Amino acid sequence: MTDLLYIKKASQVITVSGSSEKPKSGKAMAEIGVIENGSVVISGDRIVYVGTDQAAEEFVNTQPETVTLVSGEGKVLTPGLIDPHTHIVFAGSREQELEMRLKGAKYMDILKAGGGILSTTKATRAVSEEELIAQTIKRLNRFLLHGVTTLEAKSGYGLTLEAELKQLRAAQKLNNIHPIDLVSTFMGAHAVPAEYKENPDDFVQLIVEEMLPVVAQEKLAEFCDVFCEEGVFTIEQSKRILEEGKKLGLLPKIHADEIVSFGGAELAAELGAVSADHLLRASEQGIKAMAEKGVIAVLLPGTAFFLMTEPANAREMIEAGVPIALSTDRNPGSSPTESLPFIMNLACLTMKMTPEEVLTACTINAAHAINRAEEIGSIEVGKKADLVLFDAVNYQTLQYNYAVNLVDTVIKSGEIVVKGGAIC
Ligand code: NIG
Ligand code: FE
Repeated sequence: MTDLLYIKKASQVITVSGSSEKPKSGKAMAEIGVIENGSVVISGDRIVYVGTDQAAEEFVNTQPETVTLVSGEGKVLTPGLIDPHTHIVFAGSREQELEMRLKGAKYMDILKAGGGILSTTKATRAVSEEELIAQTIKRLNRFLLHGVTTLEAKSGYGLTLEAELKQLRAAQKLNNIHPIDLVSTFMGAHAVPAEYKENPDDFVQLIVEEMLPVVAQEKLAEFCDVFCEEGVFTIEQSKRILEEGKKLGLLPKIHADEIVSFGGAELAAELGAVSADHLLRASEQGIKAMAEKGVIAVLLPGTAFFLMTEPANAREMIEAGVPIALSTDRNPGSSPTESLPFIMNLACLTMKMTPEEVLTACTINAAHAINRAEEIGSIEVGKKADLVLFDAVNYQTLQYNYAVNLVDTVIKSGEIVVKGGAIC
């Protein structure tokens, strides 16, 4: 008989329940379902009870299983945090680019000169799959310590069939060996590699004819993403790749309107993309079109912060009815952090999102952005028991105490994987 895990009397349980069919938008983003002095009971990897502590005690007393108790006293319990946009599988590091940027170099100019994404591509191509896994595990551990229980992982530092497959296979193996669940995205169209600098359309052809069919056949990714940006992939090239991906069952996502207003948000709406990400310079029409089509905006305020630029206009998007999710964008160039809680702080402090909207954006809306909302993203009976206990008496404190890690306990699929702020 499986044991029960009884998380007793958290000062607040934030359920974010009632929105597993579609993401929360507009005013609903602020509805996070707070239960004061609430308790949750887990059996195996599932949530079997959520509600007041009094009723939890009665529930537990009627069950024949042995009970393991976790005190929630003085703590806030939330769904496991979900990061729907990372480039976590890579080798090397790019700290010298920070110095270049501090002296005035532009992120896109570094890429044009063969650095940036292309420098990480060189480093990633050069290592074995085992080495790639070893370097990535360290980052996954830090994500776990910050309360992240599921994340999306993009390829895009290989840019050859073989090296893209190496990244995707590494992600698949990491999904099997690490407590964090990884959801894979194929992003062969992350940059035009040096070999194709003079004929980028041939690289698009390679992606469409050689990479996408293998990725789909080997079931190495669920999504397809493109860096649709001036000087990287055009609207037409992006459309071609995402449409081909769609035919093969890979759902579209777009790095859209990050550096200049480019029509990426409009393209996301036209293609019925699951999400459009970045959107720092999205047009008013683009935002409207996304709202009409229910495209999720994955906002990355850490990237704007690290690139020292204005973040996306979250308030305009929320008012227009676009559902928002938040993410670290973890990558070695524009966002080298695993702290999703700090990104939540930045969403409040730099984009004026409220503490309630931020919690919705990192739980149920993030789950929708990776097609997992039936399983995770809220504390509801029947859902997977992915939970975080924060050392805070109310959820507002999570945004008030900024840039500190308040994660005390992480439960992944019903197992305690972080306790007292340390990996078990
Ligand atoms: O989302 N903008 C494109 N891709 C990443 C950055 C990747 C890198 O610099 O290595 C992003 O910001
Ligand atoms: Fe990104």
